[in-house]
Amino acid sequence: MPLHPAIEGAQWWRSGVIYQIYPRSFADGNGDGMGDLKGITQRLTHLKDLGVDAVWLSPFYRSPQKDAGYDVSDYVSVDPLFGTLDDFDEMVEEAHRLSLRVMIDLVPNHTSSEHEWFQKALKAAPGSKERSYYHFKDGRGKNGELPPNNWLSMFGGPAWTRVEDGQWYVHLFDSSQPDLNWENPTVRQEFENILRFWLDRGVDGFRVDQPHAMAKAEGLPDHPYVEEAGAGFIEGRENPPMWFQDSVHEIFRDWRKILDSYPGDRAMCGEAYVLPLSFMALWVRPDEFHQTFNFRFLDAGWDREKLVSAIDESFEAFDGVGAPSTWVLNNHDVLRHVSRFGGDYGRTTASDGVGPNNPQPDNVAGLQKARAATLFMLGLPGASYLYQGEELGLPDHTTIADEHRQDPTFFRTNGQRVGRDGCRVPLPWEMGNASNGFSQTGKAWLPQPESYAALARDQQVEKPGSTLTMYQQALKLRGELKLGEGSFDWVSKNDVLSYQNGNVRVVHNFSNQPVKLDGELLLSSMPLAAGHLLPNDTAWVAI
Ligand code: GLC
Repeated sequence: MPLHPAIEGAQWWRSGVIYQIYPRSFADGNGDGMGDLKGITQRLTHLKDLGVDAVWLSPFYRSPQKDAGYDVSDYVSVDPLFGTLDDFDEMVEEAHRLSLRVMIDLVPNHTSSEHEWFQKALKAAPGSKERSYYHFKDGRGKNGELPPNNWLSMFGGPAWTRVEDGQWYVHLFDSSQPDLNWENPTVRQEFENILRFWLDRGVDGFRVDQPHAMAKAEGLPDHPYVEEAGAGFIEGRENPPMWFQDSVHEIFRDWRKILDSYPGDRAMCGEAYVLPLSFMALWVRPDEFHQTFNFRFLDAGWDREKLVSAIDESFEAFDGVGAPSTWVLNNHDVLRHVSRFGGDYGRTTASDGVGPNNPQPDNVAGLQKARAATLFMLGLPGASYLYQGEELGLPDHTTIADEHRQDPTFFRTNGQRVGRDGCRVPLPWEMGNASNGFSQTGKAWLPQPESYAALARDQQVEKPGSTLTMYQQALKLRGELKLGEGSFDWVSKNDVLSYQNGNVRVVHNFSNQPVKLDGELLLSSMPLAAGHLLPNDTAWVAI
């Protein structure tokens, strides 16, 4: 399917604004309470009106949905929950007609345990070629009754599960997500075919899930400081054997060659949680990923010093290899920024979720900061990622009852970490039925909090001052003033935090006093008070 001529621009990904669609929760086209591809197609014009350049879809592939689709059982299919391949083609066609690019999620670190590769591996003998698709090992202890090493799962509990014949397999996430063995050339070949399958169908690129986990250190040695780091790593310490192994780079180089062999400037973005950013820069060298998410920026919270160092570090690291920096404040794995900034939540709580028994956020104060943060971000040169619903100023659902929980984190920790369901709640489109227009029947796979009705899109569209209007205005100005392709210089790093991009000055007021603004006001996150920017607000001025 050829690209629409209007989007044949050069290197769109360097400055584009990419909107993450979480298919389960975007829009339900068939009334069953689960979002689907038809629902997306019907609502794409809203994203055109919002002013984004591209969409990225979280997984819609065949999957038992143990990790909301990040457990893929067939990479070249559409799960019937979401529709059919024809629905997918129609969605891409409609997006391209609207000059929106389409990126899709690729999940290469692990498959679902229901994938036929894993099913065949289970039936085959230890040491067989079927087992070599994954990491199967004998256990430790007298009878192999102990896991082969001390690795832990990111979702809680051990990273090993034992199978009937006594061998163990590794899974850095849920036990239903066995890790693939990327040393096996057949696995590599399989994935190259998967890439081509979707590129041939016209996708403009991939968001790659957990790329930093794909390669494992030879022999799968113990995590050297598991007591301190759990399943993760500590910045500045040696790299644990399951993260950031060098051999992963050759895989990305192979993929880059494939993408480059297609017309239309296809791009891949790595969900690489790699720190420091100077190390991550290796991942975006000219023959590897086009870009990676910048979680340093997301993790900075709304703290002036952390923000300054995140921005400085980003430009230094990415400029050094000629890659664009990316910016992101939200996704389907963290507490929404309205709630994050409305409470005192560190990074861990942000991805572990907030439930009814935790301190609740002040979403009014949070929304003010979140709007300011968004304007601060959208003025920066580089690519920006938005997550569905942030343009409505949605808070997290922080009081979901246990019986609705779906995130495997909740189950693997006996509810100690409530997980990420709160940021994945179906979107409110039109105030009214039980799911506020998400589904015509009112059904929704997760309940919305009461506050979503008043935040529904139809309540905000064309309303001066609404969060939706602010996002639209910001994206329009960003495009007209070419801020994404622009430049960056700090004007001041003190309580009045301010930078210059071309003729535009972006100012955030971290102080507790109103600040007099110079220049011509272009846009502000909240109304000015007699020419003054109030605390916690951001403005764009032309100077
Ligand atoms: C990524 C996804 C997350 C998923 C995990 C395992 O971090 O964003 O949702 O649970 O990978 O696939």
